[in-house]
Amino acid sequence: MRELGLVNGNLVDMSDSFIPMEDRGHQFGDGVYEVTKVYNGRCFALRPHLDRLYQSLRAIRIPATYTFEELVEFHELLIKESGITEGAIYLQITRGVAPRVHSFPEQVVPCLTMSIRPSGPINPEFKERGVKIILIPDERWLRCDIKSLNLLSNVLGKQQAKEAHCFEAVMVRGDHVTEGTSSNFFVVKDGVIWTHPATNLILKGITRSIILERLAKDLDLTILEKPFGVPFVKGAEEAFLSGTSTEIMPVTSIDGVAVNNGSVGPITRKLQLAYARLIDEECHR
Ligand SMILES: Cc1ncc(COP(=O)(O)O)c(C=O)c1O
Repeated sequence: MRELGLVNGNLVDMSDSFIPMEDRGHQFGDGVYEVTKVYNGRCFALRPHLDRLYQSLRAIRIPATYTFEELVEFHELLIKESGITEGAIYLQITRGVAPRVHSFPEQVVPCLTMSIRPSGPINPEFKERGVKIILIPDERWLRCDIKSLNLLSNVLGKQQAKEAHCFEAVMVRGDHVTEGTSSNFFVVKDGVIWTHPATNLILKGITRSIILERLAKDLDLTILEKPFGVPFVKGAEEAFLSGTSTEIMPVTSIDGVAVNNGSVGPITRKLQLAYARLIDEECHR
């Protein structure tokens, strides 16, 4: 088993691969990315991840130079050649390499880089007992729906969470709680699940969509895509995060105040179990 990279369709050792100095991803963050989880040697929810990748490319006007089938093939190749069965595949496409001028270069070929790394299961204690989060101001731009490489606000927010000994920082823009630095955010109030609508102010997470479109329906849970504020969150019965790497993560403390007396609520637990069953069905059978 070994970590492995792929640059413009060719396998490379991680230690060998290099990024040209004038790659626009490197200099401007001019590109988009996706992360897909690998369970039991199979990609989970690869189609929606690739659909979102094409949407992100269209949004920042990078031409799609790889077909869906090619990208699936690259994911499968990385899994096969690395021997990694439990891991994550990172994919990014930048506008390409050109002398550093802000506007789009005339003749430029997008640059695809991918890598696979093993990832163990998330600390089972976190999933079992829940995590702490802090609320911070959302200082990002207004196109958070694009999965772009510009992650500086997210990086700073996650570091703030780490320094506060918290798992995640959830952001607040004006009167509304938007999402985590690398996750979507949900609260349960009077038995109803609430999450920020999929506008330009959040990333429409694949895990979020799975919760909305499949798990909540299957479990007959009521779910609302409606903005809510900090007082609403502080009065919530349950709270949880979702994300490809985060999966469904119960939140039991917000800004030092316990949620549900510090224990994981029943709706979050049901969703966690249903998500684990779905992974099992897609990747283990
Ligand atoms: C800002 C942000 N929101 C939400 C998510 C969750 O999205 P997904 O479920 O597609 O991983 C991510 C994932 O990286 C993210 O970076």
